[in-house]
Parts: sequence; C-alpha cells; structure tokens
Amino acid sequence: MELAPGLIWHPAYFSRDEQEALVAQLRDCVRQAPLFTPRMPRTGKAFSVQMTNCGPLGWVSDQARGYRYQADHPETGAPWPKIPDLALRAWELAGYQAPPEACLVNFYNAQAKMGLHQDRDEAALDAPVVSISLGDTCLFRFGGEERNSPTKSIKLASGDVVLIGGASRLCFHGVDRLYAGTSTLLSDAGRINLTLRRVTQPSVLGAS
Ligand code: SIN
Ligand code: FE2
Repeated sequence: MELAPGLIWHPAYFSRDEQEALVAQLRDCVRQAPLFTPRMPRTGKAFSVQMTNCGPLGWVSDQARGYRYQADHPETGAPWPKIPDLALRAWELAGYQAPPEACLVNFYNAQAKMGLHQDRDEAALDAPVVSISLGDTCLFRFGGEERNSPTKSIKLASGDVVLIGGASRLCFHGVDRLYAGTSTLLSDAGRINLTLRRVTQPSVLGAS
C-alpha cells in the first residue's frame, strides 16, 4: 500500500512465528549490545526510547557529539552484533544493490514516543529506510520534507513493515503514542522498532 510516493506499507509482512523468532534473535543482540538511552545534541535531553544497534554501523546520539553512525557501542566500546537473519529478510523489499549497514533497534515502553524528524544522517539517500514494527500497535505520523508540511497518521501493528524511500526518503515522521496491551508478542507492554539503513554509498567496484 503506497501511503505517499515512495512510502510503502506492508501490513503483516512477518507471520506470528517469524515475529517470535525475530524477538528471540533480538534478545541475543541486546545481551551483546545492551540498550542505552540516547541524548539530544546540545540540550542533552534524554530520548524516551531506549536504543541499541546491530550491523557494521550503529546510529547513536549524545550531547557532546550529536547524531552519528559509529562501529562500536557507546557504553561498552564493543562492535555491534550481526543483523538478525529475519530482519535482513525484509531488506529484499528495498530492491537495493547493497546490504544494509545499520539496524537501529528502538525500544518503546508504554509512554515512549518519537518526535517528528527526518532520517538524514546517511550518505546513501538513494536507499530506502526499512522499518519493522514488533509488539504493541503505535500511531505513526508522516508528512513532507518540511517540518510544518501537513501530516497523516496510520496505526502500525506487530509484523508490519514500512519502506521510507524514493520521493518520501526525507519525509518527516514520528511516533505519537503506543496502544499498550494491543499485542501479546512481548511479555510486557511495549514496542520494538527496527530500522534497516544503508549508510555509505556502495563501492562502484561491487556491492558490499
Ligand atoms: C524512527 O523513525 O526511528 C522510528 C519509527 C518507528 O518507531 O516506527
Ligand atoms: Fe526515523
């Protein structure tokens, strides 16, 4: 379903069994790369979501150095774990010539939200961002390339995948709220969002 040019919604892309298997793979990731609380550049205000990453690169943010990708965990200094196979499967929807380099894992508790923002820290803006929702349903809002462009909202449920690409690659988007208790996937209320991202431009010598 095309929500806007390049913004494609695949409801129930992952079956319940696949969602359970993916959550088990993510538990392994979080054991190796614990969730951390990112902070806004300059103000140092804490995000309401907790984060971690998988893949060669991970997205991090703190007061001193701002938004960036880096190869190691900001607290442990260890390299990020590998992207779970099941998450990688959704990258086939991207139709991109090279694999994703980052899988950002956002954990929302019942009160967490994500303000309107653009995903623009990637050099490979020709690749879509592939977003996977697990757990409680949320209200996802998207607009245009200006912060004050008109917006629309949809409810994203567990197993849904959204591609943010093409003419919508730089659209403002965010999560206004969770509907706690709408899913039985996770043992407590909450939602996990995974975003697969190609960060660097693939080499002209071959995709990797
Ligand atoms: C994000 O934009 O990083 C998260 C979007 C979502 O949680 O669905
Ligand atoms: Fe985003």
